[in-house]
Amino acid sequence: MLLGYILGSIPFGVLLTRLGGAGDLRSIGSGNIGATNVLRTGRKELAALTLLLDGAKGAVAVIIVRELFPGHEQMAALAALVGHLYPIWLRFKGGKGVATFFGLMAALHWESSIFFAALWLGTLSLTRFSSVAGMSAALMAPVAAAAFLRFDLALLYLGMALLVIWKHRANVERLMAGTEPRVGGTKDA
Ligand code: G3P
Repeated sequence: MLLGYILGSIPFGVLLTRLGGAGDLRSIGSGNIGATNVLRTGRKELAALTLLLDGAKGAVAVIIVRELFPGHEQMAALAALVGHLYPIWLRFKGGKGVATFFGLMAALHWESSIFFAALWLGTLSLTRFSSVAGMSAALMAPVAAAAFLRFDLALLYLGMALLVIWKHRANVERLMAGTEPRVGGTKDA
C-alpha cells in the first residue's frame, strides 16, 4: 500500500510545469494538478507528458506489487489512486484521478480499460468538458468490469469512481452554473 501510495502521490503536473518554466500549476486555471490544467498553461507537450506519467504511475504501482506481492495489486491500485488524490507532498491537495484510474485499470484488467478510454475520448470530443469525460469514464469502469464478470474489480472501481466524482465537486458546481471551461477554449479559461 505504501509503495502504491508513494508512486501515486508523485505530482507530475506540478513538477513538469515547474521544470518547464510554466509557473505554479496550483495558481493557474482550476488550480488542479492534472493534464487538463497543464494544457491551460498553453504547453501541450507538458500536458501530454503529464497525462502519460499520471497514467503510468497507476500502471507501474500495480505491475510492481503484482511481481513482489502477488494478490495485493488491487490494494496497491487503490493506494496509488488515493496517493494521487491526496498526496502528502501537497498537503493532501491532489488531483482528480482520471489518468491514474485509467493507468491502474490498464494494468489490472486491460479489457475494461478500453471501455473507460473509449467513453472518455468520445465524451471529450462531443462535449469538450474534461470533467464530464472523466466522470463518465469513471462511472463506466465498474459497469465494464461487471460486464466481464469481474465483480471483485467492479466493487473496487465503484469505490474509485465515487472518489473521483467527489474530487470533481467544484467542476459539477461550475457545470451547473454554466461556467465550466471547455478544453481548447481560451488560454486562461
Ligand atoms: O482530469 C481532470 C479533469 O477531469 C478536470 O480538470 O482542471 O478542469 O478541473 P479541471
